[in-house]
Amino acid sequence: MNLDENKIEAAITKKTRAIVPVHYAGVGCEMDAILDIAKRHNLLVIEDAAQGVNAYYKGKALGALGDMGCYSFHETKNYSMGEGGALLMRDATYVDNATIMREKGTNRTLYKLGKVDKYTWIMPGSSYLPSELNAAYLYGQLCEADAINEDRLHSWQRYYDELRPLAEDKTIELPVVPAHCKHNAHMFYIKCRDLEERSALIRHMLNDRILPASHYIPLHSATAGLKYGVFAGEDEYTTKESERLLRLPMYYGLKEEDLQEVVKSVKTFYKAQ
Ligand SMILES: Cc1ncc(COP(=O)(O)O)c(C=O)c1O
Repeated sequence: MNLDENKIEAAITKKTRAIVPVHYAGVGCEMDAILDIAKRHNLLVIEDAAQGVNAYYKGKALGALGDMGCYSFHETKNYSMGEGGALLMRDATYVDNATIMREKGTNRTLYKLGKVDKYTWIMPGSSYLPSELNAAYLYGQLCEADAINEDRLHSWQRYYDELRPLAEDKTIELPVVPAHCKHNAHMFYIKCRDLEERSALIRHMLNDRILPASHYIPLHSATAGLKYGVFAGEDEYTTKESERLLRLPMYYGLKEEDLQEVVKSVKTFYKAQ
């Protein structure tokens, strides 16, 4: 589900400033190739590692490979503070500006450090500061990050093992994780044959009181995407794959008996086909 690194160069124009790889489902994009392209074209690499906290590419943490990396701590993510995130920057010169932007465009951080005697407005910014309470809620999870990860990976593997027979007889497709990527079980998805089959499966699962989730409408076909974006090349996979993808319930502490209910619902649906 990640971007095809072989198609990046054809998409670069004289306006291009950065490559933004999205590590979908916490599975790393091909960062060696992407960093090489960025270097040759003098572009920044800003990793969308919203789904990739505590996941690795060739042993290196997603979000820490490019010039900048963005993590999400949204309520839907592996580690959550309700709403919030983190921005990682390789070049320390960006840090000063980012610090001002997050503090409503002021140098209040310098004031708090005793480096200026009053703070004032310096540049555009907004209120990006998480509250202490939200931060404390996240901190508790970060202290248990590996246990949370292992629990999710266990559920992911259980789904995979249970649904493997359906994939072996080509009824559905299961996620692929390259050997050099250590994912974080951010999500477990299956791929149905097409949109029609997925819609029928969703109805079937809802009837079993299970809430699966279909996923994003590809950005290029969103209202803003149509207005501001360009699709480079041909849409061979993006729309088709997004229409087939269905996320199964996945969260920390998912009980085996609940997971079995989900598996049973999927299997019953396909047996009846
Ligand atoms: C791939 C991806 N990018 C960006 C975001 C946005 O993260 P946030 O809601 O923390 O801004 C999300 C999560 O919603 C995401 O899944």
